[in-house]
Parts: sequence; C-alpha cells; structure tokens
Amino acid sequence: MCGIVGYIGKKGAYNILIKGLKRLEYRGYDSAGVAMINSNGALNVYKTKGKVCELENYVKDKDITGNIGIAHTRWATHGEPSSQNAHPHYSESRNLAIIHNGIIENYADLKKKLQEKGVHFRSDTDTEVLVQLIEYIQLQKKLDLLTAVQYALREVIGAYAIALLDKTNPNQIIAARKQSPLVVGIGKDEFFLGSDASPIVEYTDKVVYLEDGAIAVMRLGEELKIVNILNHKMDTPVQTIDINLGQIEKGGFPHFMLKEIFEQPECITNCMRGRVNTSANNVTLSAVIDYKKQLVNAKRFIIVACGTSWHAGLIGKQILESLCRKPVDVEYASEFRYRNPVLTKDDVVIAISQSGETADTLAAVNMAKEKGAFIYGICNAIGSSIPRSTDTGSYIHVGPEIGVASTKAFTGQVTVLTMLALALANVMGTIEEKKYLEIVKELSLIPDKMKEVLNLNDKIESLSRAFTYAHNFLYLGRGFSYPVALEGALKLKEISYIHAEGYPAAEMKHGPIALIDSDMPVVVVATHNALYEKVISNIQEIKARNARVIALVTKGDKTISKIADQVIELPATIECLEPLLSTIPLQLLAYHIAVCKGKNVDQPRNLAKSVTVE
Ligand code: AGP
Ligand code: GLU
Repeated sequence: MCGIVGYIGKKGAYNILIKGLKRLEYRGYDSAGVAMINSNGALNVYKTKGKVCELENYVKDKDITGNIGIAHTRWATHGEPSSQNAHPHYSESRNLAIIHNGIIENYADLKKKLQEKGVHFRSDTDTEVLVQLIEYIQLQKKLDLLTAVQYALREVIGAYAIALLDKTNPNQIIAARKQSPLVVGIGKDEFFLGSDASPIVEYTDKVVYLEDGAIAVMRLGEELKIVNILNHKMDTPVQTIDINLGQIEKGGFPHFMLKEIFEQPECITNCMRGRVNTSANNVTLSAVIDYKKQLVNAKRFIIVACGTSWHAGLIGKQILESLCRKPVDVEYASEFRYRNPVLTKDDVVIAISQSGETADTLAAVNMAKEKGAFIYGICNAIGSSIPRSTDTGSYIHVGPEIGVASTKAFTGQVTVLTMLALALANVMGTIEEKKYLEIVKELSLIPDKMKEVLNLNDKIESLSRAFTYAHNFLYLGRGFSYPVALEGALKLKEISYIHAEGYPAAEMKHGPIALIDSDMPVVVVATHNALYEKVISNIQEIKARNARVIALVTKGDKTISKIADQVIELPATIECLEPLLSTIPLQLLAYHIAVCKGKNVDQPRNLAKSVTVE
C-alpha cells in the first residue's frame, strides 16, 4: 500500500504533489505518477517506473500547470512495475483519472464483465478496473461522478484508498477509503489529500482522518462533504494535529527496520486478504486451484532459498510435511545449484525470495527448470526476476521492505507457506476437517496476537541494555522454534555484529554447551508445545553454568519464570503458528541491542538488500 497525494486550491498543484510524494518516499515504491487538470480543461497524466526524481525528469518538457491534481507512488500488487501499470490510470474516455492504494480482490471478474461490454484496458492492474467500472456505470446509468463511485464501490471486494479527477468537472476531487488510510487536509480555500498526514502537515494542521467506508468530496468554494456508499452523511471531526516534519519521515519511526517490525500485523492481514476467508473458514490460493494437478501429484517438494528466506523454508518444511504428508527438503540455493542434485518432473521446487532477485536462488530456479521440475515462487517484489521465471507462485504482499535486515518478509513468507500447506492438505484430504478449521481460524487471529507481542517493545528495549556488551549469544529452540532460533541469531549478527548462533536445543549437549559460561547469554524459545519439558531441562543445564537466560514463554507460564533471568510472555497459539509470534521479540531484541551499540541498523556494513552477486 503506497502513497497518495492530492491538491485542489489556488496554487500550482504540481509542486505540492511532488513534494508530497517525496514526503511519502519512506514507504518505498516502484513507480510514480501525477495527474493535473490545466486551465484549458485538459487532464494530463504523467507516470514513470522508478523514483520520483525520474518522474520529475520525465515531465521537464510537459505541461504541468493546473490548480488541481492527484499523485501516487505505487508498490505493484497486480501487474509488474512499469510506466503502463503506474498510476494514475485513465478511464476509457480519458475523462477520469484514478490513483489507488490497496487490492481489488474481485478485479478479474469485474474486468471480464467490462471487456465483454467492450471496455478496453491499457494496464494489467486491478486499479484500472475500478476507474473503468466507475465510468461504465456513470455512462450506463447517466449518473454524476459521486453516485457512480458509490454504485461501483458496492460491487468491489477488497481494500482501497482512491482519489479521482474528472475532466468534465475540474473543480472537484473525490476520494474514498476502505481498510486503507486517507487523510484530508483543510486549508484556506484549498484541500489536501494524503495516504497519511506527512504530505499535508506543512500546509495546514486541520485534518480529517476519513473513516472506513467514507467518500470525501472536495470542491472549491464548498465545505468538505463526507458520505458513505449509501449516500448517508458521515460526521467526521476536524482534528488539529501537532506533528513536526522531522517526526514523519519513516512514518514516525527512527528506522525502517522498526517501522517494518511494527507493520507486521497489517502486512499479515494484507497477505491473507482474499485467501483466508474467515466467514467460510477456509483458505484458497489461486496457484493451488490453477496448478492443482502438479502440486497434488508432486512426489517431493524442494525448497530453495538463502538467508532469512531459507529460515522461512525450514518452517515451511515442517508445516507441509505435517499437513500434506509429502517429503520436503530445504536447500541453500547456493549449494543446491552447484551440486547436480537428483531432480525429476515429479518434483516441485519452491523458491522463496523477498527481493525476487537473489542470484543464487534465481540460478537454482533456472537449473531446476532445465531438469524439468515444476517451479513455485514465493516472493515479495512483484514482477522481479524469480516470479518471472517460475511456473506459478504466491506473492506475500507485505509491501516494500527497505531495512536490509528482513523482518516482515519473513512472517509473510511463513504465512504463505502455511496457507499453501492448508490449501493443499485440504485438496488432498490429508488433514482432518476439525484440525483444518482450527488452524484457519487461529491463523486469522494472528494479526491481533502480533499486536499484543508488539506491546512488549518497551520491555524488550529496557532489557536489551543489559546485553549490549556481550560478544557471543546462543539461540535455542526445538521443532517449529528451531528455525526461529536461527532467525533470531541471524538478526543479531547482521545488525549488531555480535556473534550469535542458533541451535536445536537438544543439540546443545553435543558441543555448544562447552561454550556456556556467565559471559554467554542464551535466548531460549520455550513456548508451551510438545517439547516443552525437554526445553526446561536445557534451561536448567544452562543456568547450572551461570549463563543469563532470556526465555520466550507462553503467557501464564509459571515454571520458566522461576529459572530464567528474563521472561518474555507470548500469547498462546497453535504450535505450527508460533513462529509468527515468537520471531517478533527476537527481531526487537536484535534491533534494540544494535541501536544501543550505535550501529546503522537499516544499512549494516557489508550487506546489501538484494544479493545479486553469486
Ligand atoms: C536477511 O535479514 C538478509 N539480509 C538476507 O539473509 C536475505 O534474507 C537473503 O539475502 C535472501 O534474500 P531474498 O529473500 O531477497 O532472496
Ligand atoms: N493494486 C494496485 C496496483 O498494483 C495498487 C498497489 C499500491 O497500493 O501501490 O497497481
């Protein structure tokens, strides 16, 4: 969900829009665009792939005049990042232009219906469907724009924040929201619009945060009008905000990494949108519907990935094996590709990559393809190289991840792997109905439980100070918590440069125990699962050697709090979903230790966000 800016007033819109887009750059994006109506009534749309500065270069010789306009930074969800798919999108007649944050879930059905009526599309986006639908309804029913928007939004399933310009009515902007934020700024004879307040605060402190389901009509010379899709008036208070410009960069967070850690509840909601149906209690993934045969007949799954994505793969292995009863191997892409592995056309290779550009993972995909395997991608960056090379896949839809240390992409990957295992197990009949329903229901509760975990931030911040000077850390966990231990250790290494190792807890006695003394803090993921009693014995062994123990436990645990030095309590959930919660305190711990040590958490030394070298 990326950035929206709008302006209507007496000033030149273009500069306000571009400045606003720059204020929203902290959200990350892949393309940008603007639309303005000039004094002759022409509706000009300019858009490019890449950064806002590229858009500025592109419009150098263009007409950028006009006192009304809308602008957008896009993070592609439907259709690759390209100037064609960038927003604003025109309607068929080019009388309307729209910008949109979010996802229209039923866009494919709507598009098909509109195409059957003769509407032509210029992009692959879900967004264009919306503007075409609005215009189609407007012309068919001979409606004004507001009523057409209200009719169209009744047909739409999904999440949106939109803004519309109408060439035939150059004195108004119409904006609407559902599950995606929008703020209207009220100036003197002018209105501003933003997906958050950051593009607005330098012009006015009077704002209206639109409520879910609100449609705002901003007309010059009139008061702000807010109605819902049934045209009932909504009374939303005008608020006075007190935000300084320094605070709004990175959405108010001091680092992208912390912002991204805190975004996780929203990201997981987006990731499950249109896939986990809470009212019907089921999970659907389009890839499992479209490629059912290949997936059901797979003799084996091989997950290939690097780094954090590889850790997500280790969790995916356990879920897929336990629910689908198929063998799953997890391979480092860099090892797999050089090993001449045995691969057949009955194998399904699952490539996991946030960036979709990791050279080793891409090479592993291409090698597996040559050997005839069916390839399934789990990526974040839409239209990147890996999804372009796979047979099918599922995007994780967590939005751009800018901090080099991967956080929200990890929980997004684990969520997609969980949905894949559930959807496939249901199709194959390898899961009992009761268990399936129980996991689906619990999965839908994860975003709220993540919020509870994030409330521990202050506690983790204060305890992290006592661990800043350690030179080594050990992270232990068993079963689903073992990959969590690996991921916790990787996070700490990457950003604080403290040496850290993750181990399966039971392996401790086969070697690492020799290292344990009072200088070696040990983090133990000790939630209340099948191996709980055994993990308690491990903690006792550690304490007998005087190490400090930070334990992650299930809320209400009475036993471990008596032996561990620090206890972090997590909400209870089903064992296979625990990583989605237990990873978060470890991300926060690494973050706060690195901040205490004065490290550059967003750009740690020697690391790149996307490793495109072998
Ligand atoms: C994670 O914090 C890393 N910086 C790194 O391990 C990363 O996960 C790895 O390079 C794989 O990247 P990808 O998911 O974009 O393929
Ligand atoms: N779903 C839209 C697209 O892919 C909007 C994405 C966004 O929120 O930037 O164009």
